[in-house]
Amino acid sequence: MAQPLRVALIGQQFMGRAHSNAWGQAARFFELRRAPVLETVAARDPRALAAFARRWGWARWTTDWRTLAADERLDLVDIATPNHLHAAPAIAMLRAGKHVACEKPLAATLAEARTMRDAAARAARRGVRSFVWFNYRRCPAVALAWQLVQQRRLGTIRQVRARYLQSWGGPTTPLTWRFQKALAGSGAHGDLNAHLVDLVRFLTGQEIEEIHGAAARTFVTERPLPGRRGLRGASSGRARARRGRSDVDDCLLFVAGLSGGGLASFEASRVATGHHNDHGLELNGERGSLRFDFEDMNALWLHEPAPDGRRSEGWRRILVTAAEHPWLGRWWPEGHVLGYEHTFVNMAADIVGALSGRKPVVPLPDFAAGYETQRVLEAALRSVKARRAVKLGTVR
Ligand SMILES: NC(=O)c1ccc[n+]([C@@H]2O[C@H](COP(=O)([O-])OP(=O)(O)OC[C@H]3O[C@@H](n4cnc5c(N)ncnc54)[C@H](O)[C@@H]3O)[C@@H](O)[C@H]2O)c1
Repeated sequence: MAQPLRVALIGQQFMGRAHSNAWGQAARFFELRRAPVLETVAARDPRALAAFARRWGWARWTTDWRTLAADERLDLVDIATPNHLHAAPAIAMLRAGKHVACEKPLAATLAEARTMRDAAARAARRGVRSFVWFNYRRCPAVALAWQLVQQRRLGTIRQVRARYLQSWGGPTTPLTWRFQKALAGSGAHGDLNAHLVDLVRFLTGQEIEEIHGAAARTFVTERPLPGRRGLRGASSGRARARRGRSDVDDCLLFVAGLSGGGLASFEASRVATGHHNDHGLELNGERGSLRFDFEDMNALWLHEPAPDGRRSEGWRRILVTAAEHPWLGRWWPEGHVLGYEHTFVNMAADIVGALSGRKPVVPLPDFAAGYETQRVLEAALRSVKARRAVKLGTVR
């Protein structure tokens, strides 16, 4: 019988659902030496929590995440709260000797991210591990791209184009934490460029050395307050009072230099009309190129030299669903495609594997990696503000 790995989760909405599903499914599909046990879920709303715990199979629930630190039963605490609420629980749980898996971006600010990285480094000396939910590394097609780059199939990488475009951030979208700098740190940038920066560092194995230039726009500066209060009425003075200031970027673009000498461009937007979760990357090397689009996530596009040269050269679409592909041997027969939730299940399985001495299929990001991504995010924000290039060496 597999040893239990007793998990607690903080947060019960979007990521709360994705993570609950992942912890619940991991041992059903993967052969694990430890089996995740869904012990406790913590969040704010007691009524919603009881129903959530029942639906997703959590044994207990609490509205006070602080009690988790003293709970001797727990091995790992999973943090799926708004960005400003990552640092305090992560540091408390690491101090209490619990492994921590935290959502991205690592924190709302670079200073918080630094304290988290340092706390994780101290905890690591006692065998306590940290993880960041950069789940897109665990799309099988992205992991295959990593393997191909590792095999040097592309040669020297000269250009990377990374985009993450969504369109849900129009003026009727309520002022949730995501549109408040004090809670989120930034807007589309921290939310979406965080994934892109992690993927570019991961796929190329290179560091971002300089932000050559960055620009941001806030198109919507006022939003209805969340809930019924803010959504009714529009034009009266009272209705206006039910609105609040949105002070984050809706769109942020930047260009960066890579340590291998190449260039990378990044685009994040929540107001790109027509794009829903248009998350894509293209890597152009001196020998070959790779392309990935999340909305067609079971495919990886590869361009390599053909034996007869230009006659039959072209882009090839690889359907990444064979047992030989990362994680696929544990899922369904070939051609039976995977979806968004599988990236989280693959990651939960790799975390559990790592905690029982197994090497993950592809590297798992820890708080040190999350901090490096946060430095890049911060450098881009400084570049926007100062309207000039920013070297990463100046951002610590
Ligand atoms: N990996 C991904 O692809 C991905 C996708 C979406 C969000 N995220 C990240 O996940 C995190 C959560 O985002 P979300 O979309 O699930 O947000 P959400 O607003 O849907 O849920 C936030 C949860 O945090 C809880 N919460 C807020 N304050 C709390 C407190 N004081 N104590 C306990 N619980 C509290 C809320 O009750 C809610 O359950 C963010 O950091 C976000 O950037 C990652």
